[in-house]
Amino acid sequence: MPRYPTGSSALRAIPDPEALLAQLDEELEADTTLEAAEPILALAAKYLTGTKKGVGPVSTWHSAQTIADRLDSEMPLRGRPLDEVAQRLATHLLDDVNRLAHPMYIGHQVSAPLPAAVWTDALISAYNQSMAVREMSPSFTPLERQVIAWMTDLVGWDSRAGGTMTSGGTEATFSALLAARTAVIPNVWTHGLPVMPTPVLLCGEHTHYAVLRAAGEMGLGTNRVITIPSRDHSMDVAALRVKLKQLKDKQTPVMAIVATAGCTATGSFDDINAIADLCAEYKGARGDIWLHVDAAHGGAAILSDTQRFRVAGIERARSISWDPHKTLNLPMAAGMLLMRDESELAAAFSQQAPYLFASGDEARVWDTGPRSFQCSRRADVLKLYVALERYGIEPLAALYDRTCRVALALHKMLEEHPDFTTIHEPQSSILCFAWTPKDVPTPKLNELTDVLRERYNRSGRGWITVTTMDKRRVLRVAVMNARTTEAHVKKLVDGLVAEGRTVLQHAGY
Ligand SMILES: Cc1ncc(COP(=O)(O)O)c(C=O)c1O
Repeated sequence: MPRYPTGSSALRAIPDPEALLAQLDEELEADTTLEAAEPILALAAKYLTGTKKGVGPVSTWHSAQTIADRLDSEMPLRGRPLDEVAQRLATHLLDDVNRLAHPMYIGHQVSAPLPAAVWTDALISAYNQSMAVREMSPSFTPLERQVIAWMTDLVGWDSRAGGTMTSGGTEATFSALLAARTAVIPNVWTHGLPVMPTPVLLCGEHTHYAVLRAAGEMGLGTNRVITIPSRDHSMDVAALRVKLKQLKDKQTPVMAIVATAGCTATGSFDDINAIADLCAEYKGARGDIWLHVDAAHGGAAILSDTQRFRVAGIERARSISWDPHKTLNLPMAAGMLLMRDESELAAAFSQQAPYLFASGDEARVWDTGPRSFQCSRRADVLKLYVALERYGIEPLAALYDRTCRVALALHKMLEEHPDFTTIHEPQSSILCFAWTPKDVPTPKLNELTDVLRERYNRSGRGWITVTTMDKRRVLRVAVMNARTTEAHVKKLVDGLVAEGRTVLQHAGY
């Protein structure tokens, strides 16, 4: 465990603070140069270039405890040169990372980030502008407004639209649902939620936990979230209609309906138009039911001529979460909340903070703090801007299309393979499938699928995930890397078959 070296402190000579500061001042200045940064930046460059060919392990076979034991040391009392620190990082940590830039990493929905955006992270940190208020970030707050405007234009919204960058989809959905809460209960910020009639939230059973978490966080209670069953992995709109009718009969107000565009497990899309129709049909005293679209993963479909049909009707939403750190391949953190009417987001946070927030029209336009859950906030918009400037939106849309095509190609390969059973056609870059070698009973396969996944990941050949669908353990991939091609997913199938053979042998089959 990390420790401050208290045991030896009695024996240590008491440091001279002036001497310490003199040395620190010198080191701080020395570290400002490009040459000083080189050892750290070189590690990143070596990683990004070194993974191109897809050779070498994707992950580590060491346990967390092995790595923790290696790190178990006393807290440094004094520093050491940056190149030594870089060397230490290389030997103590970096061999055991998950290499997301390796084309055979086809695991969770975390991207292999675009290189120009990676380098921009250093710039964001160097300038360290806080996005809460314009006076702390004179050029990046207007930049965020500009980039968000590009995005709301893509959705098809007018000049009332706006939003904010977020830490990710979870924060975006939470903030959107706070806005929905205010729209239904205007005095909720000061008075809290009414006991009667307490509103409910509706979402699909496949919805990301961000929705339940938001209900818990805002004091609505997770019991007030009604999950609608799925049909073909998307929200069953007929079941939603039945539920809305029952709620109307009981005069239960509905705070919002959350549709998902690219759900976490299977990447499938809810029928936004059909759900928007129901939001209008079952409107309450304050207008249509609030429709939030969680497009954290599938937002990139908005950009794409071939995929846009999957988000048809998205402009009818009141709010959208969309994570550039997923399918726009930015490094974390880069999430977005887009609002059809930005004033509804400001209404969600009726915050007074005279030491920070200025009043007046100018502040209302540029300050982002009054409509963000965060106070100190990085200028993550800069890496989105640099990515757009460097690569352009059309090539990035084509990249999303390609990841979807690779998932589709994998689906085809699996359909033709005797050891696997497909479960759904991919609607985005995510695919789940079952490992079903002959003569192994399903309950045993549920157990062995986890063994196979673990064995495959530890082999270094690649890295994938696993989930449960209809009580069955299934393998899952998310193609989030510009380097991953059909040849790589073919290697994935071959690797699973080879490791699977060993798993079956060990299990006595
Ligand atoms: C559909 C969906 N919504 C929300 C989230 C949460 O996003 P974040 O991890 O950026 O908070 C995810 C993450 O996987 C997701 O798939």
